[in-house]
Amino acid sequence: MTGQRILGIETSCDETAAAVVVDGRDVLSSVVSSQVDLHARFGGVVPEIASRAHVELLTPVVARALVEAGIDDDHVDAVAATVGPGLIGALLVGVSAAKTLALVWGVPFVAVNHLEAHLYAALLEEPDLDLPVVVLLVSGGHTLVVLMEGRGRYRILGSTIDDAAGEAFDKVARYLGLGYPGGPAIDRIAMEGDPQAIAFPRAILDEGYDFSFSGLKTAVVNHVRKHPDVDTADVAASFQEAVVDVLVTKARRAARDHGAKGLCLAGGVAANSQLRERILDACMADGLQAFLPSRSMCTDNAAMVAAAGWYRLRSDGPSPLDTGASPNLRLTSTV
Ligand code: KG4
Ligand code: ZN
Repeated sequence: MTGQRILGIETSCDETAAAVVVDGRDVLSSVVSSQVDLHARFGGVVPEIASRAHVELLTPVVARALVEAGIDDDHVDAVAATVGPGLIGALLVGVSAAKTLALVWGVPFVAVNHLEAHLYAALLEEPDLDLPVVVLLVSGGHTLVVLMEGRGRYRILGSTIDDAAGEAFDKVARYLGLGYPGGPAIDRIAMEGDPQAIAFPRAILDEGYDFSFSGLKTAVVNHVRKHPDVDTADVAASFQEAVVDVLVTKARRAARDHGAKGLCLAGGVAANSQLRERILDACMADGLQAFLPSRSMCTDNAAMVAAAGWYRLRSDGPSPLDTGASPNLRLTSTV
């Protein structure tokens, strides 16, 4: 038999996902069942609903991932699951299932950090990525600038001091009545607006690699209160422009300061059209390689969990079966 087949399981938020990946690079299957419709009418993810949906969806999702990969249960070499960060109830469903399968099949269980998994998403699609690269990891819960020097070797350069970028998109979209999830809704409507219409603030733009988005959110609310007839598309476009400006400026600065060969996007916000376009422009201007994973690889999926799990298994060995879910797990520098 060639290669190590890892079954990855992801249930940290509102996507129930399973995938089979060989040797951390060949994706045999990747199944994602989104719960977006279940949460949309509440305007955000409801943790209890998410946990219950994971319980119902996980078995069929895992079964489909195995069938699509064309393998029998006994040909899985390890089971990797996201243990954090995320919603505790949601995480527990995936972690318990993964440990049970590992026990029954007699194969290792591997605990995976969801943020580290996002870092591996780009590597899955660009296995020959020229390192070091600066990864801009922008999701609903996190905003990080990471210097990736090698597989499993990375340094956190900056992060948000308040809201995450995706959180800002979601909160502003909700305030503007654009529905949930907010990122794609703002992305769509912003195409019809003028990004220069309103000069929203760009917090701590001129120094370092950290971010702050809560003032921007307040500025949007204040502007709409003062100008109730303002065009929503203009507000969305100007807000998005402010977020993207800061993200791109800091990622470029980090790449320049650390001699990175490229810039790479990861996390749900990396699906944003404006961000992708601006990162491409920045890379062209600075002579950097741009790595923009496909949109489905940017948002939560289990292929990235399986890939991260394979690297973890090689470097640290199996995780103990008493490893619990860690809702506040952080990503820490390894170098
Ligand atoms: O990585 P992800 O799927 O889940 C987390 O780990 O958080 O990211 C979800 C976040 C949400 O905040 C969502 O609004 C945002 O990614 N997002 C976007 C876009 N697509 C998803 N934000 C801006 N533009 C988009 N096109
Ligand atoms: Zn995520």
